[in-house]
Amino acid sequence: MRMSISLRKVNKSYQSGEVAVHALKDADLEVNDGEIVVILGPSGSGKSTLMNIIGGIDTADSGEVEVEGSKLHGIRGKQLVEFRRKMTGFVFQSYNLIPGLTVEENIEVGSEISINPLPIREILEGVEMTDKRTKLPHQLSGGEQQRVAIARAISKNPKLLLCDEPTGALDEHTGKKILSLLQEINRNYKTTILIITHNQGIAEMGHKIVKMKSGKIAEIKLNSAPITAEQVEWV
Ligand SMILES: Nc1ncnc2c1ncn2[C@@H]1O[C@H](COP(=O)(O)OP(=O)(O)OP(=O)(O)O)[C@@H](O)[C@H]1O
Ligand SMILES: [Mg+2]
Repeated sequence: MRMSISLRKVNKSYQSGEVAVHALKDADLEVNDGEIVVILGPSGSGKSTLMNIIGGIDTADSGEVEVEGSKLHGIRGKQLVEFRRKMTGFVFQSYNLIPGLTVEENIEVGSEISINPLPIREILEGVEMTDKRTKLPHQLSGGEQQRVAIARAISKNPKLLLCDEPTGALDEHTGKKILSLLQEINRNYKTTILIITHNQGIAEMGHKIVKMKSGKIAEIKLNSAPITAEQVEWV
């Protein structure tokens, strides 16, 4: 099977005032093409750091990072921009919508830069935002903004979809709809999907479950029988 992500001994520290925070410690991870990987761990354990490095938003201090055939260690600037544009869709922990653009226009930001975009109408339907497509972000609830952020990432039809707490602001009903949509995308397009969550129940949806603790990958569990979004026990 083709490898989507390969990390070897990846380290990352942040300088926070006088002290250095070792956010990622010797992280090793392999993800196959088309897998759903769920990442769990307490706040501050390094989940977003890991995802940002895989998505080429942040760079490792040391170690090897290979994603979708690109070696990300050592590359910078323009090459990294190109990698992100071509390969990744990102759903940020804070939605990062553009305030002056409508729902539909925010989603188009994703599809416009893609070589292989999905139809906007279909995406709007999928996240149940068709009737709100002309609204601005400040006119939306947190959950609705979250759905637009997800729609924007999906619209690119990326090889790799990185979702940092995609259901954090959503109730059980909407959350499961979104997770269902992610599963559908995984099935239909063989998209590799990483999902960070605090919701233990979501873990069983993953082909692979990664547990982080104090900057370390503490456990990687393989799951041969992932459950569907509908079967998730919402906690
Ligand atoms: N830009 C930064 N500058 C300084 N410290 C940072 C920065 N980004 C992350 N950190 C620190 O690195 C550690 C890991 O942060 P990270 O955001 O990866 O955690 P997380 O597991 O995503 O947490 P949460 O569940 O709260 O989102 C934390 O101690 C955090 O304070
Ligand atoms: Mg985080």
